[in-house]
Amino acid sequence: MHYLRFAVLLLVLAAQSVWAKGNTTALADTYTYANYDQVKATHVHLDLSVDFDKKQLTGFAELKLTWLTNKVTPIYLDTRDLVIKKIYAKNAQGQWQKADYKLAERDDVLGAKLTITPHFKASALRIYYHSLPQASGLQWLSPEQTAGKNQPFMFSQNQAIHARSWIPIQDTPSVRVTYSARIQTDPSLLAVMSADNDPNTARDGDYFFTMPQAIPPYLIAIGVGDLHFKAMSKQTGVYAERYILDAAVAEFNDTQAMIDESEKLFGPYRWGRYDLLILPPSFPFGGMENPRLSFITPTVIAGDKSLVNLIAHELAHSWSGNLVTNESWRDLWLNEGFTSYVENRIMEAVFGRDRAIMEQALDAQNLSYEIAELPPGDTQLYIDLKGRDPDDAFSSVPYTKGQLFLIYLEEKFGRQRFDEFILQYFNDHAFQSLGTKNFVIYLKKHLTHKYPNIVSDAEINEWIYEQGLPSFAPKPTSDAFSKIDDLIAAYMADEINVAQLPTSQWTLHEWLHFINNLPVTISVEKMAELDKAFNLTNTSNAEVAHAWYLLAIKAGYKAVYPAMEKYLISIGRRKLIVPLYKQLAETTQGMAWAKKVYLKARPGYHGLAQGTVDAILK
Ligand code: BES
Ligand code: ZN
Repeated sequence: MHYLRFAVLLLVLAAQSVWAKGNTTALADTYTYANYDQVKATHVHLDLSVDFDKKQLTGFAELKLTWLTNKVTPIYLDTRDLVIKKIYAKNAQGQWQKADYKLAERDDVLGAKLTITPHFKASALRIYYHSLPQASGLQWLSPEQTAGKNQPFMFSQNQAIHARSWIPIQDTPSVRVTYSARIQTDPSLLAVMSADNDPNTARDGDYFFTMPQAIPPYLIAIGVGDLHFKAMSKQTGVYAERYILDAAVAEFNDTQAMIDESEKLFGPYRWGRYDLLILPPSFPFGGMENPRLSFITPTVIAGDKSLVNLIAHELAHSWSGNLVTNESWRDLWLNEGFTSYVENRIMEAVFGRDRAIMEQALDAQNLSYEIAELPPGDTQLYIDLKGRDPDDAFSSVPYTKGQLFLIYLEEKFGRQRFDEFILQYFNDHAFQSLGTKNFVIYLKKHLTHKYPNIVSDAEINEWIYEQGLPSFAPKPTSDAFSKIDDLIAAYMADEINVAQLPTSQWTLHEWLHFINNLPVTISVEKMAELDKAFNLTNTSNAEVAHAWYLLAIKAGYKAVYPAMEKYLISIGRRKLIVPLYKQLAETTQGMAWAKKVYLKARPGYHGLAQGTVDAILK
């Protein structure tokens, strides 16, 4: 009886606190100020000019609104480091009226809440503003910082919560908008967006875009630079600076085959064209799945297609992520785990099972190393971010643990049933957002309860809500890798010498497995011997270089340092540079060297990479 009364009291208190905030439902996404349960933007029009001297975008954003409540309530938008000039609201008669607004204090994670208070239910808002040079979602590069050296470059990276640093918007993956844009630049530059780019557009500095499919704001994207286009197929092509355009086209000319294979497995590609934008090396990610136009690091252009799983990955997001979207950043694994799974299925279909398994095995090994070092709470698929910046909780857990979960389901139910399930999942949630809880309900209904007694609810819960990897998780193993393990053992025991390592037919994946599994106790002499035989320090493959430098730091093989310095200065992709800085920071000497190099490297890095490395080197 007492318990009951206590429970009722708790309920009343909870209801009151919700009421006090003015919300009637708890919203899934806590990384937005938007009251998107009351009013939703449905279309955004941007009219912006690109000023490289001031490093700012200037103009206005117009938001069409749909109301979900009968009350006249304020409209809350997300901003970060925006200068708001004036705001107009459109009334029922279609007239624009000046609206009152207030920009709150800036929160370090969320930015500044923009409260707009027209005294009527506005059908649209027009916000005049400009961004600031420190916009967290933009990087402005001077001509010297590009590879072409002649023209400046600017690009956006909105995921997770950086759209608000250049667009005042409801910056949540729970809201979807169509968009249009007019972008004015210097006429010598080309602007492209995650929209209907026309490969034959007149190069006149005045560019128009429309994006007819509704997308979450983290997928609005822009790139401006000395860009040129080359087609790969009717549907696919590359935008890049001239120096790398042909190399990119040659590297990625399997993109059409990837689309064709994906459609067979996962249903139609619903976005029209699929182009790639090759960014400067400072791009902080490998790739970003901006719809119709994936953003790609040049560090995957290896000359032998060995790193094109990145393209498969970004393309895969056209189904998982862009079509079916995580409703909050706690649910990132729904985007990235599914995408890693789909990526690997595409790789298998286009390049064969052996390669796909090797890629799984490499990722699984990385995951287990990472899990050992992460705070335990960060090893859950459904992560509790605890108010941290989503960027700070980034790891391979949502990717590879998520992927292993889906491989597990595939193995349990068989490919045919699992493929049917995924296809239906994409179709049933097309152009919608969903969270982990609703996913689990759907999974049970359409797979695990439909075919009972194969996977239990408890097993699902362990995968999604528990830390680390379940004991029953799949362990991808490659025969090719087992052979390499034997060779490593023999080489370390001096049973074979360097010339007896049968490397001539090794793929990139075998090389990576080899380097990743050499013991850190390896002698400097053996490192030098391997280096002499295989020229590893000066490899042109950015992943091989990364693995080799990491081992070299641990093993105390100093001969790599001059090459590693060049590498750290010329590349800004977080995944490739951060582990090196972390490892260097383990020793006083390494820390001192890292700080010296970082002084030169930092100005070329994206703000996101700067933030991460700053924290490591303090
Ligand atoms: N969407 C991600 C990049 C991202 C994730 C940006 C979270 C901000 C927050 C992109 O699709 C991605 O996963 N890129 C990977 C590709 C790799 C797994 C093949 C990368 O950049 O390394
Ligand atoms: Zn991804």
